[in-house]
Amino acid sequence: MARRPPPEPRAYDVLVIGSGAAGLTAALTLPPHLTIAVLAKGDIDAGSTAWAQGGIAAVLEPGDTWESHIADTMIAGAGLNHRATVEFVVEQASAAIDRLAALGVPFNLETDGEGRAGETNSERWHLTREGGHSHRRIVHVDDATGWAVQQALHAAAAARPNIALVPGMVALDLVTERHVEGERFAARGCHGVYAYDSASRHVVRFTAKAVVLATGGASRVYQYSTNPDGSTGDGIAMAWRAGCRVSNMEFNQFHPTCLYHPQVKNFLITEAARGEGGHLRLPPTPAEAARGVTAGDRFMARYDDRLELAPRDIVARAIDAEMKRLGISHVLLDIAHLGADFVRLHFPTIHARLLELGIDCTTQPIPVVPAAHYSCGGVMVDLAGRTDLAGLWAAGEVTQSGLHGANRLASNSLLECLVFGQAVADDIMAQWDPAATVPEIRPWDESRVTDSDEEVVVTHNWAELRRFMWDYVGIVRTDKRLERAAHRVKLLRKEVADYYGNFRVTPDLIELRNLVTVADLIVRSARARKESRGLHFTSDYPRTADVARDTVLDPVMVRS
Ligand code: FAD
Ligand code: SIN
Repeated sequence: MARRPPPEPRAYDVLVIGSGAAGLTAALTLPPHLTIAVLAKGDIDAGSTAWAQGGIAAVLEPGDTWESHIADTMIAGAGLNHRATVEFVVEQASAAIDRLAALGVPFNLETDGEGRAGETNSERWHLTREGGHSHRRIVHVDDATGWAVQQALHAAAAARPNIALVPGMVALDLVTERHVEGERFAARGCHGVYAYDSASRHVVRFTAKAVVLATGGASRVYQYSTNPDGSTGDGIAMAWRAGCRVSNMEFNQFHPTCLYHPQVKNFLITEAARGEGGHLRLPPTPAEAARGVTAGDRFMARYDDRLELAPRDIVARAIDAEMKRLGISHVLLDIAHLGADFVRLHFPTIHARLLELGIDCTTQPIPVVPAAHYSCGGVMVDLAGRTDLAGLWAAGEVTQSGLHGANRLASNSLLECLVFGQAVADDIMAQWDPAATVPEIRPWDESRVTDSDEEVVVTHNWAELRRFMWDYVGIVRTDKRLERAAHRVKLLRKEVADYYGNFRVTPDLIELRNLVTVADLIVRSARARKESRGLHFTSDYPRTADVARDTVLDPVMVRS
């Protein structure tokens, strides 16, 4: 059959890859005279942003200070944070939240009366509490904050005639000087992206004067995760292949309380449930169960004075240790003692979802396990979101901006997306040259590949990768386990590279290729860190070194 000619390139002023909080904030901050395309690999609302529950952190409570939020962020981050970034984000938090409120995000208000005369909206927002925060600091929309934020940003972007929202477009590689016609004369830099169009099944060229990477995190590299399917680290892998440094990939955050249920694999029980007084308990012993007791001992006192409000890394490790000590499959999160009205008011989404699954959390404890939740590492950026590659900016979970250090403080992530989404757009405009041109880009070459006849290779390798990452590169690490993981990553890299070189790309193959790269970067980083700090805990080096240093991987230095 005659092959169709390659599709024409699509040219924009700015290309934003990713339609979550970071990407949409960047697009909305750019001026309306620029043409902007926002790509999403599935639906526009399918990223992690829409799944966020707890809320967004900001200094709003009387008596709270920027200094206190900065200190909490750096304590959680085990001193690895870059103080300048932490200050930059914390100080812009309340303005970022005001902008969301102006777009119509209906943050919950205090329920005690109408407020004082002259009181502003932000003084009346209800603030919840989460682990590691020394104040009530989290604005929220019930227990489904992310959905409200995503809807508001999506609606605002859809209303802007200069913004094209392009779902179903899987970016697969950044366009750099290597892809320019007559490449010998091309200047180093990013000029767009090749993307697989799920509708036409063709690879399309998008070109732009500025490209923003906002593709979210990589937690689906683990078998158990709170994240949507698309969190496969595509942006990290694309930037790495294009020559950008990545940093701190060993710090993957495990959320302590993901629902443990045979049918539902990635439903989060928000940290605000512990913030509002929920207790972690062991399952009842057989003797307790025989007496009708539904939940056993509280155990956090054995691990940390802050009990259930210790930072996530400590709580997740405590749960992991109890599960291993007792050989149990899960622990329990008990919020029934908060009262049925309180639970229904503060956690309506969780209450309703659990009822569908036969669990009434106003009377029964909730079975929970830790699961991979957030990538603290990523593409290195400065305070303007600039990467190592001219023409390429990045914002949100795909980056390592210096904010989170060795462990992210709860509810600082949406905040980072909002602040850096804006910073990136401001920096693009500060450098904007209306006369700049984009070079001619070569079409995607499919002349030497055929359709795959063995999709099983992809599905098998996906499952294997996630399994050994969970078992060998999980909450507690050892040199031996990391060595085993490194060995398996090496084999998979070769197999997937061969497969990629021979067969036409599909969304699953694109993601698998990226997951292998991300796993490689995580394992390399974990092996390089000979200490325990924040989320990286290894039994072989349990002490924390005196000096905190980022793990920086440079593609120029890493060859095999
Ligand atoms: P995302 O929102 O994940 O968006 C990524 C976008 O990139 C998507 O549009 C996706 O389609 C697109 N994309 C990815 N790869 C490609 C590709 N190859 N081609 C084209 N497009 C691509 N943080 C908080 O601060 N507070 C919370 O309460 C909170 N709760 C959370 C609860 C859950 C269950 C989860 C999973 C996370 C939570 N987080 C929370 C973390 C926070 O939601 C994320 O860190 C944040 O939303 C990331 O936003 P983002 O814009 O960087 O990426
Ligand atoms: C949660 O609601 O527990 C998630 C908060 C976060 O990840 O910041």
